[in-house]
Amino acid sequence: MNPLNHVAIIMDGNGRWGLKYKNSRNAGHKAGLKTVEEIIKETIKNNIKYLTLYAFSTENWKRPKQEIKFLFNLLENFLINKIEDLNKQNIKLKIIGVKNFSSKLNKLLNQSEIKTSKNSKLQINLALNYGSKFELINAFNKLKKSKKKINEKNFLNYLQTKDIPDPDILIRTGNTKRLSNFLLWQLAYSEIFFEKKLWPAFSKSDFNRIIKEYRKIKRNFGNI
Ligand code: FPP
Repeated sequence: MNPLNHVAIIMDGNGRWGLKYKNSRNAGHKAGLKTVEEIIKETIKNNIKYLTLYAFSTENWKRPKQEIKFLFNLLENFLINKIEDLNKQNIKLKIIGVKNFSSKLNKLLNQSEIKTSKNSKLQINLALNYGSKFELINAFNKLKKSKKKINEKNFLNYLQTKDIPDPDILIRTGNTKRLSNFLLWQLAYSEIFFEKKLWPAFSKSDFNRIIKEYRKIKRNFGNI
C-alpha cells in the first residue's frame, strides 16, 4: 500500500457552481470554502501531513475587481475567525506565492504563519498569488547567484516548497484536465486525479475514494 504524505488540490469550479445554483460566482467561492473546511477535517482523519491548496494564481488577477475583492475578504474573514481553531488542532499554515496584498492581509497572513509555525499535525500550504513558472525562474536565478553547483539538490533549496515532500496526489476538480501553472516541478511523479465534480460539490467521500484508489496504484518512479 502506498504511503500518503501530501495531497495537492486545484479547487476548480466555484464560479460555475455559484452561477448554476445561486446565480452568483461569489456564492460559489463561499460554498468552496465550506468544502475546504470539510477536506481539512478529512485530511487529518487520514493522517496526511501536507495539504496544498491552490487558492489564487498569478493569472487570477485578470478576474473582475469585485470577484478578487470578494475572494480576499473571504480569506481575511477565514483567518480572523478560524486561525485560533486551526492552531488548537495543531495545524501549521504556510503561504506559498508572493505576499503582495493589502498591508492588512499581508499582516494577517504573516501573523497566522508565525502563530502556527510550531504545529505538527498537518501543514496546510495555501498557494496565493502563486505561479509555478515564476517560482522556477526565481529559484534558478538565486541558485545562479549563489555560485553553487547547478543540480537538483541545490535547486530544491530555492523553491517555496523547500522541506516539503512532493505531492503524492494531485486532485483537480471542475472537469478540466490541465495544471494551470501549479507546482510544475513538484508534480513530476504525482498521481493525478481529474474530477468531474465542481469544487463546492466535491465531498469527503470523493476524497476518500481517491485515496483508496491511490493506495492501490503501483508507483514505479521510472523503475519497473
Ligand atoms: C477556482 O474556481 C477557484 C478559485 C480561483 C478560488 C479558490 C477559493 C476557494 C476555494 C475559497 C476560498 C479559500 C480559502 C482558503 C479562503 P473558478 O472560480 O475558476 O471556477 P470556474 O472554473 O467555475 O470559473
